[in-house]
Amino acid sequence: MFFQQVSQKEVEAGETHSLSAKRLLMRKITIAIDGFSACGKSTTAKRVAAILGYRYIDSGAMYRAVTLHFQRQHVALTNPKEVTRALGEIKINFQVNAKGASETYLNGLRVESEIRTMQVSEQVSQVSALREVRVAMVEQQRKMGRDKAIVMDGRDIGTVVFPEAELKMFLTADILTRAFRRQKELLEKDELVELDPIIENLVKRDQIDSTRAESPLRKAPEAVELDTTHVTIEEQTDEVVRLALALMLKPTLRN
Ligand code: DC
Repeated sequence: MFFQQVSQKEVEAGETHSLSAKRLLMRKITIAIDGFSACGKSTTAKRVAAILGYRYIDSGAMYRAVTLHFQRQHVALTNPKEVTRALGEIKINFQVNAKGASETYLNGLRVESEIRTMQVSEQVSQVSALREVRVAMVEQQRKMGRDKAIVMDGRDIGTVVFPEAELKMFLTADILTRAFRRQKELLEKDELVELDPIIENLVKRDQIDSTRAESPLRKAPEAVELDTTHVTIEEQTDEVVRLALALMLKPTLRN
C-alpha cells in the first residue's frame, strides 16, 4: 500500500522529513457511492478501493443474497414472521479471490454468479423494500464500516448507512447506457437477455427503489453528482479518487 499514516512520534522525532516523499499525512475516510442500478457504481467503487487500499463492500450484493435465499426457501414476503425467521438463517460475507476480486458468500457458499441472474434481479427490489431486511442489512453494513477506510456502494449508503461519510457520490447515466452495461455484464456470465426486458427491469427497480417507504433511493444534499453516460470508467474512477485524496490529505496527526 502506498499511503501510510505518519505518527505523532515520528513527527516529534523529526523523522517526517526523510519520509516525506513517500509517506503522507492521510486520514481514513468513508466513501459512499449511491445511485440507480447499472450506473457503474460497483465498478467505480471497486477500482477506487483498490487504488486507495480501502475495503470494498457491494451492499446490493447483500440484498441479492437475501433474495436468493428467500427464493430458495420459498419465503412468503407478505409474512413478516417468516421473513424474520429466514433472515435469522442467513450469514453473508465477502471473500477476496485469487484474482483480488471480492465475492459474495451466503452461508459459507460462494453465490457470486447466482445473485446476478435476472431471476434474482426481478425480485430484489421487493425484498429490499422490506423493513426487516433493511434493518438487518444496515446493521451489518455499519459493523463493516466501523473502522472507516471503506468504499460502499448502494442506494442508501450516504443517507442512512453512513450519513457521516466524508465523501458521498451519486452516480447517474441515461437508461440506454445502463441497459447496455447490464446486458454486457449478463453476457459475461453466459446469460443472453434482450434489451427490452433489461430496460423494463431497470425502470421498475428505479421506481420501487426510489418510492419505497423504507430508506428510498435519493441523493444526499451534500453528495457529488456524477453523470457517467459519456465518461469512461477510468475517468469516473479518477474523479472519485481525486475527491477522496483531497479529503484524506487534510492534515491530521495520529499516534
Ligand atoms: O446495486 P444492485 O443493482 O446490485 O442492487 C440490487 C438491489 O438491491 C436494488 O434494486 C435495490 C437494492 N439495494 C438497496 O435497496 N439498498 C442498497 N444499499 C443496495 C441495494
